[in-house]
Amino acid sequence: MLYEQKLIDELKRFETDEHYAREKCELPAEGKLDPVNQNYYESEKPKIHDKMKEELRKVQGWNKSLLSNIPLRFSEVSFFNFECKTESDKKNLDSVIKFVERKNNEGVLILTGKRGTGKTHLGAAAVRDKLGYYVVIEDLIYKIESSLNFKSDQTEEEVFRDFATKEFLVIDEIGRSLKREKEIEILSYILRKRYDNRLPTIIITNLEKRVLLKTVGEAVADRLCETGTTVEFTGESYRVLKRKEMNDAA
Ligand SMILES: Nc1ncnc2c1ncn2[C@@H]1O[C@H](COP(=O)(O)OP(=O)(O)OP(=O)(O)O)[C@@H](O)[C@H]1O
Ligand SMILES: [Mg+2]
Repeated sequence: MLYEQKLIDELKRFETDEHYAREKCELPAEGKLDPVNQNYYESEKPKIHDKMKEELRKVQGWNKSLLSNIPLRFSEVSFFNFECKTESDKKNLDSVIKFVERKNNEGVLILTGKRGTGKTHLGAAAVRDKLGYYVVIEDLIYKIESSLNFKSDQTEEEVFRDFATKEFLVIDEIGRSLKREKEIEILSYILRKRYDNRLPTIIITNLEKRVLLKTVGEAVADRLCETGTTVEFTGESYRVLKRKEMNDAA
């Protein structure tokens, strides 16, 4: 189950189910409470309620948090506002949710396909639900190159270590920058380290899977084939669909 959905369900249950609320306060779920426990319950219940609401707010606001690195454009996206107009939208949504829900996940999910089909939307939705981190490969290259400057507050090694150990990482726009060699070098290193650290990663690209595997070189390609699942976004661009809808309505 998605973490956000779980929190929503738990909060609702806490508000409406007295037995559940008492259990959460570590009190007997059944029977009349003695006055001491009753007092304890009345003082504890609002505190636990606030904590649950706070955790839900954290997840729902994660894409706006600097800690997620999500661009403003995607600050509101989630699995809940991904519309399924076509079968392929539904399949794509299901595949990403399945990956996010995996227990002990150490895999790689490759989102590939045409422009405007919702890859970044679903990547950002995954970051929100996992309280993860989003990065565009070009910015990652820039970060690593800047770390070589002696004035930088992080060394190259520290930047690499940081990305190799993030609990949940989404790397977007692979294959778009002009620094292809550098992209491969960085991606190979980070994927290898994350594989060793058994941490999950989503990579997003417009390149076809065949081209991507060729681009990243044999070693990474082997690893991607071993731990990777690919979702091909084949539908029509959502941007075009929206424009058409607006034209039809006018
Ligand atoms: N099924 C959908 N439901 C709601 N919004 C969607 C859906 N698909 C795409 N969008 C929205 O359409 C816009 C384009 O989608 P997105 O940026 O995710 O596409 P993309 O596949 O990453 O494209 P590109 O390859 O150009 O980066 C975004 O604003 C996104 O939130
Ligand atoms: Mg995108």
